[in-house]
Amino acid sequence: IRERKRKEGVNLLELAASYFRERLKMPEAQVAREYLSNRGLSSEVLADFGIGYAPDGWEGLKRHLAERGIPESVQVEYGLLVHREESGRTYDRFRDRVMFPIRDVRGRTIAFGGRVLGDAKPKYLNSPETPVFHKGRELYGLYEARQANARLERLLIVEGYMDVVALAQFGIRNAVATLGTATSEEHLARLFRVVDEVVFCFDGDRAGRQAAARALETVLPLMIDGRQARFLFLPEGEDPDSLVRREGCEAFTDRITCASPLSEFLFDQAARGRDLARIEDRERYASQVLGVIGKLPEGVLRTLLLGELSRRTGVDESRFTALMDRAEPKTT
Ligand code: GTP
Ligand code: MN
Ligand code: MN
Ligand code: MN
Ligand code: MN
Repeated sequence: IRERKRKEGVNLLELAASYFRERLKMPEAQVAREYLSNRGLSSEVLADFGIGYAPDGWEGLKRHLAERGIPESVQVEYGLLVHREESGRTYDRFRDRVMFPIRDVRGRTIAFGGRVLGDAKPKYLNSPETPVFHKGRELYGLYEARQANARLERLLIVEGYMDVVALAQFGIRNAVATLGTATSEEHLARLFRVVDEVVFCFDGDRAGRQAAARALETVLPLMIDGRQARFLFLPEGEDPDSLVRREGCEAFTDRITCASPLSEFLFDQAARGRDLARIEDRERYASQVLGVIGKLPEGVLRTLLLGELSRRTGVDESRFTALMDRAEPKTT
């Protein structure tokens, strides 16, 4: 029954996706087409990502699906219709928005993200949790990245749908985005099944830097030997979309090449705002780094980082090991 239910949902979402794609070609989508072309997106990239348009009406999709025999209750269940308790009415959730289908590993549409054409709020509207969509687990663009690359070496983790699509437009076809949530261990585990290297590339603003710091914590337990995590920091006020459009593919690719390895980010972050000539600052520096190292699995990276910390602080490595062994039961 569960599998049948899944199929029913996926069919319905595929129907909706093709409805949105068709709508993007209609006269009513003129403004949407202009919006997308102003953002520099070609029809090839729009087609690769299956981008469409939800027209500005209350029941265009609802009628379209009803004509195909899909009960309203099912449309509500999969997040396409909103049901108002008070009035008992149902209407299209997505109206006058550019529609990004979110696909699973096999390319089946499981949800949508919709962007307003102007400055209205909310800027993005996502499908709610449904039987086939769990927001904290899915990654936008993973299917498309795998389609575009016979062999993927690394994946870039960015914040937004538009970042993924704009990078693809410029030939950087290995970016994925979480769906407005923080990067979870589940996201990362999923990516490390596909590649050995992830590069975090969040917006050049406060929120983006905080996201990078959180991502560091999240990725630590997954850093078994052979895996790499790097951090790419963008200039203030830029996101991957704005930057690749301004600088082009080559400059952006250079930035990826130069992204900080985890070790560098870790030591830089701990040193920030501290004067390492002072013992108290050095103590906090070492404690912070040690806290991070303690979350790494046993392995070469952990050993190397301990050695480096010892060199940087002039404290014998065995002293740190002893401290860590004592701290360990508490952290787990
Ligand atoms: P553009 O303005 O189209 O370039 O979008 P952006 O991707 O740069 O947006 P931003 O950096 O503000 O947000 C990053 C991601 O967070 C988006 O792609 C969405 O997934 C999510 N997000 C942003 N705004 C909203 C919102 O209003 N509601 C929800 N649910 N998610 C949002
Ligand atoms: Mn759930
Ligand atoms: Mn931002
Ligand atoms: Mn952004
Ligand atoms: Mn943006």
